[in-house]
Amino acid sequence: MASETLSRIGLAGLAVMGQNLALNIAEKGFPISVYNRTTSKVDETVERAKKEGNLPLRGFHDPKSFVLSIQKPRVIIMLVKAGAPVDQTIKTLSVHLEKGDCIIDGGNEWYENTERREKAMNDLGLLYLGMGVSGGEEGARHGPSLMPGGSFEAYKNIEDILLKVAAQVPDSGPCVTYIGKGGSGNFVKMVHNGIEYGDMQLIAEAYDVLKTVGKLSNEELHQVFAEWNKGELLSFLIEITADIFSIKDDKGQGHLVDKVLDKTGMKGTGKWTVQQAAELSVAAPTIASSLDSRFLSGLKDERVNAAKIFRDGGLADVLCDQVVDKKQLIDDVRQALYASKICSYAQGMNLIRAKSIEKGWDLKLGELARIWKGGCIIRAIFLDRIKKAYDRNPDLASLLIDPEFAKEIVDRQSAWRRVVSLAINSGISTPGMCASLAYFDSYRRESLPANLVQAQRDYFGAHTYERIDVEGSFHTEWFKLAKLKI
Ligand code: 6PG
Repeated sequence: MASETLSRIGLAGLAVMGQNLALNIAEKGFPISVYNRTTSKVDETVERAKKEGNLPLRGFHDPKSFVLSIQKPRVIIMLVKAGAPVDQTIKTLSVHLEKGDCIIDGGNEWYENTERREKAMNDLGLLYLGMGVSGGEEGARHGPSLMPGGSFEAYKNIEDILLKVAAQVPDSGPCVTYIGKGGSGNFVKMVHNGIEYGDMQLIAEAYDVLKTVGKLSNEELHQVFAEWNKGELLSFLIEITADIFSIKDDKGQGHLVDKVLDKTGMKGTGKWTVQQAAELSVAAPTIASSLDSRFLSGLKDERVNAAKIFRDGGLADVLCDQVVDKKQLIDDVRQALYASKICSYAQGMNLIRAKSIEKGWDLKLGELARIWKGGCIIRAIFLDRIKKAYDRNPDLASLLIDPEFAKEIVDRQSAWRRVVSLAINSGISTPGMCASLAYFDSYRRESLPANLVQAQRDYFGAHTYERIDVEGSFHTEWFKLAKLKI
């Protein structure tokens, strides 16, 4: 590529995601300039661009020539670690930018940081977008799901690029849409990740029940998940799970999955999702249980010790020695997983809606389901059904009461209850499935025992209560009345 021509776009931050996204953009025919603080990454990316088809990509070792190599109004995507490195990169680049230029943060950033930066950039006459990018390395290179939020003007400047770079889903279009104002793109990506945590936890529980109670081998698990991936559960996470069970250990006997330490790491977006759910008073128990499960998994040494104490005390694995009909169990677990998943997505969607109302973002839930159908980690055939549910009724209070989903849950509830009961009786924890079931059982009940909690609050704290038959706020001297009765 001739160095005198200006690039259409720039990308700063050439770790795995940045490098692959830059190559993707170049491959779609948009000349791109790239920059990284550690210059070896720049050379590596330039090398890759040559090898992968002489793609129109130019590397720069200094920020000024990088910025000046981009056509105006300049657009620079930044893919650096969330937090301070983002501020640092903005500082480095913005001194060379001019009015109307734009920076896009493609990292998993806290939405309020994006809002703060958008304001600061605005004061300089610059535009800013916070764009969720999902799909890992593979997605970034060949088609991610993109969730840009912030300046609409900035979005319009690069819409043509994003439409081409995003994953393409037949009959549903590119997996990108303008999400909304402010930090909405980051917020939606954060909830995407919370849902991702929930999906992974539910799949792990299905695995645990099948393996520990059903005694399925890794070969059988591979078959089961591969089969599930042909039906209603078809999704990226089920597909990779099937693959995982087929991989042999390259350092010893057996399968690699059995050698992986049972401690789940995390980078923070799942935790933020649960914190936001609490802030907004939205119940998200399945997502919360997936987070708690990660915390508990981290206590490996304590768990090893506790297992020994209870084994020595007589609570051994005998609980898991129930005889089960394997075929029936596999079918039940599939249904339990699907029904649990519906509840988890209902929680995530309601969280997004609550935030949208609070911030006035006017987010379109059906459109979000559409752009998650391809490219991202939670991509699944089932998202098409979610999109249709919101198309039928954009004001749907919960996915659980969409007529189609309601019927699906009812059809699966016997199997779901069987799996959860079996797991409980076998001493196998299925916190995600239990949380989903309890969520469903609470949501579908006209009356809950919350009357008693209200009475208790009023008893000890005079917090007052409402009545079912008379309007108003009431307080009762419960203590006095109780004493009088004695
Ligand atoms: C994606 C993923 C990605 C996320 C990882 C790790 O959409 O591509 O959500 O953004 O960073 O999945 O998340 P944890 O380390 O928190 O599990």
